[in-house]
Amino acid sequence: ILKILTALSSGYLLGSLNTAVIVGRIYGTDIRNHGSKSAGLTNTLRVLGKPAAGLVLAGDILKGIIACLIGIQLGVYVYAGETTSNLGLLAAGAGAVMGHNWPIYFGFKGGKGALTAAAVMFMFNWVMALISLGFFVTIVALTRYVSLGTISATVFFVAISFIPAFGNTLYFYIVASLMAFMVIFKHRENIQRLLSGSENKLTL
Ligand code: G3P
Repeated sequence: ILKILTALSSGYLLGSLNTAVIVGRIYGTDIRNHGSKSAGLTNTLRVLGKPAAGLVLAGDILKGIIACLIGIQLGVYVYAGETTSNLGLLAAGAGAVMGHNWPIYFGFKGGKGALTAAAVMFMFNWVMALISLGFFVTIVALTRYVSLGTISATVFFVAISFIPAFGNTLYFYIVASLMAFMVIFKHRENIQRLLSGSENKLTL
């Protein structure tokens, strides 16, 4: 349990390094006062443009990966029947998403956690993550709503994770559902905008 708490808290401290806030500061602005007010990739692209978005893309993926590596290093595995879950990785990854969404260094106002969660899921099971990424890209290409792509791909990811061939454990379902909840909860305003037809469309 100590190792799990270590994984969770180091993930949280790392995830709190919200790249969009940091990049925004480099550009002399607080991204959280502009556009959708979200400190994430989509809003950085919208407000600050492609080079800034590239930095956020790299930073948020990197912190998800580093958090997972720390978690893996702690070596906490749980066995359920014939399958195993790397609980260290999952706890650190969930911590990273938590930190991204509610960063300790930036007044607990962050982003929506989708990119960091995706990086963590690639580290956990790249096949499930890649299929979900394909789903995300399809939805965004068809509708131009990044938020709709994120929300539906999150639900899709959890749904396919129940396919027995992936051999996931109960611990995985708990952590994955928690991460999915953190991402979707942060999309409350997007959901309202989608329903009222006023959501921003992606323009490249
Ligand atoms: O991952 C965030 C995306 O789904 C929505 O971002 O800035 O349009 O609220 P935004």
